[in-house]
Amino acid sequence: MEENLVDEVQAAQKAEHAGDAGFLWGFWYPAARSAEIRGRGLVKATLLEVPLVLGRTDGGAAFALRDACPHRGIPLSYGRFDGKNLECSYHGWKFAGCSGQCVEIPSLTSQDKLKVERIFAGHHPCEEHDGYVWVYMRQAPARSGEIVPAAPKLATFSERYQSTHLACDLPSHVDQGIIGLMDPAHGPFVHQSWFWRSKTSIHEKAKQFEPIPFGFRMSTHSPSSNSAPYQLLKKMTGAPVTTTIDFVLPNMRTEEIRSGKLWFSSLTTVTPVRRDLSRIDFVAAWNVPLPVTIFRAFAKTFLKQDQETMIRQAEGLKHNPRLMLIDDADRPAKWYFALKANLIEARRTGAGMVHPMDGPITLRWRS
Ligand code: FES
Ligand SMILES: [Fe+2]
Repeated sequence: MEENLVDEVQAAQKAEHAGDAGFLWGFWYPAARSAEIRGRGLVKATLLEVPLVLGRTDGGAAFALRDACPHRGIPLSYGRFDGKNLECSYHGWKFAGCSGQCVEIPSLTSQDKLKVERIFAGHHPCEEHDGYVWVYMRQAPARSGEIVPAAPKLATFSERYQSTHLACDLPSHVDQGIIGLMDPAHGPFVHQSWFWRSKTSIHEKAKQFEPIPFGFRMSTHSPSSNSAPYQLLKKMTGAPVTTTIDFVLPNMRTEEIRSGKLWFSSLTTVTPVRRDLSRIDFVAAWNVPLPVTIFRAFAKTFLKQDQETMIRQAEGLKHNPRLMLIDDADRPAKWYFALKANLIEARRTGAGMVHPMDGPITLRWRS
């Protein structure tokens, strides 16, 4: 099994160099913050190297069109949006924001037989949750009867809570961003802080993982005793602290921390913008008595440490070095590559997706 995993990693890297950008289609990705779309304004975004124009109708529905007019390709984002239809800046063709369907071609005369309503601008399903505009990215045009799953949503566990979000760009391929996100061994080196841990606090850990659909879970456990915030939480509730961390394709890590009635929940995604640019989006909610400003300061420090490390890593990756994935600390990264490869294979053959894990397994590493 190990042999196979390594082959799959190499296959993924080879495919990338062969011109396949290594993106996973048929999933939701966060394209922009909801607050960026104001009134009838249009916002440009790029996902998986596809240029998009985002807007919101007067009825409040966000939409995502391909930012290219189907007539001559000029970006539709140069056009004018009246709250319902988007008018191209070149020849004034009008497209319904919500469907991309053409509703008017000003140059047509009464003699013309062109069926305007059969023309569509590229259009993607769009949903708003947790302050994000999520866009469903499929590679081929929509097929009738296509089932689009619901967009991801941050889990919350009480009526009242606080929340915040952070984002940062990474000059790397999404794969590097993702394996960095779930890499357990960099903590003591990259995230050295007085409030978190130091290099000398390294100790051996054993964590149980289990397969879940399209991903894996670090089974519910009590988080490491050397982290001050967890100790504090335990003191506040008197109840044990438990953490569950999931990774699910294409790019999503969720974490739930519970202690008595108190909870903290986060959703982190690494989104491919281009093959050499990704973005980390982090949204968290909690009812723990923790001011947003303080939490943001800590979270920003963390994210910045990861970002700086990945900027440096990208410097090295420019020269295409050979890379390694070792056991057990890099096993989650191996699972990620194998999940991705197996999903692509399942879609190609139409057979069921093979999960790379046989069942629950304990991984051991020092961090
Ligand atoms: S290019 Fe858009 S209407 Fe002609
Ligand atoms: Fe990190």
